[in-house]
Amino acid sequence: MILVTGGAGYIGSHLVSALLERGEDVIVFDSLELGHMETVETLKELGNLKFVQGNLKNLDDIRGVFLVNKINAVVHFAAYSQVGESVINPQKYYYNNVYGTLNLLNAMLEFGVKKIVFSSTAAVYGEPKYTPIDENHPQNPINPYGNSKLMVERILDDYDRAYGLKSVRLRYFNACGADSKARIGEWHNPETHLIPNILKADSAKTFKMFGDDYDTKDGTCVRDYINVEDLASAHIKALEYLNNGGQTDYFNLGTNEGNSVKEVFAVCEAVKGEKIPVEICPRRAGDPAILVAENKKAKEVLCWKPCKDLNTSVKSAYEWEKVIPQ
Ligand code: UFG
Repeated sequence: MILVTGGAGYIGSHLVSALLERGEDVIVFDSLELGHMETVETLKELGNLKFVQGNLKNLDDIRGVFLVNKINAVVHFAAYSQVGESVINPQKYYYNNVYGTLNLLNAMLEFGVKKIVFSSTAAVYGEPKYTPIDENHPQNPINPYGNSKLMVERILDDYDRAYGLKSVRLRYFNACGADSKARIGEWHNPETHLIPNILKADSAKTFKMFGDDYDTKDGTCVRDYINVEDLASAHIKALEYLNNGGQTDYFNLGTNEGNSVKEVFAVCEAVKGEKIPVEICPRRAGDPAILVAENKKAKEVLCWKPCKDLNTSVKSAYEWEKVIPQ
């Protein structure tokens, strides 16, 4: 059985869907603070899914899961992930993302579970020194969110050396899109991400474009938008890698290509088939001009490759926007 923490959230739920469709038995552990019960109900229709509501900050909650289930491997998504909020409230981020993960790892060690795939982020690199960013790029996070993820990466290295716990850390660039059958998708409250915010905009709520004076091809920030189903497939490859005796390692997950905010906006307008009201606003604090992944290592070692382009991602996000529960 595979334990997925945060499996009721955006990226976690897409992995759970992919695992269930492959016939795997899955346990989702989620506090439902940010994840959604509706997502769990949808996933339950896809296969053998157990759901446990609990919080990683309570050791007993997570110990209980290992006590009564035979877990082979863990995929750990549960975390807070808003960069801006982490600057204002670092305690919340370190307590949840680091201390919560320590509880999970302690439970794994106690019950002899030695394989984990961990959701990491491009934020572990900080301000880019060069582009595209490969895995050897210096790691100097510029916010508590990135720090919390990097701390866990370092803990995982130490736990391998001391206890033989094998990990794969997947450093996502900009996750986007939704399930191709529009059953699950991105559902944050409040929503801060680019594509849903463009798609949700209307005459009552214009889309705010944060800065058009960056040193980029058209003045707007460039990001590497990676489809969420492609991210899910990378986790499956990572689990296979660990099951085959793979050593602890870390990989960027991106497309090797960057798109500007204006380019993404144009794709959204084309998919929606209408003009979207837009307002140019000042830069958002902490946004680097360009963040693009070098994804060669994941391709070579995990035999993974992204298959879905930006247009496909935006189309699926738009289909999901039409059905997202209010
Ligand atoms: N943007 C807008 N308007 C919006 C939302 C976003 O113009 O309403 C712009 C941002 O300024 C940025 C780009 O769109 O230039 C992408 O912004 P997102 O908020 O969608 O994504 P980020 O690149 O800020 O953040 C993502 C993940 C984080 C992760 C970070 C790594 O969401 O979890 O990449 O640097 F930490």
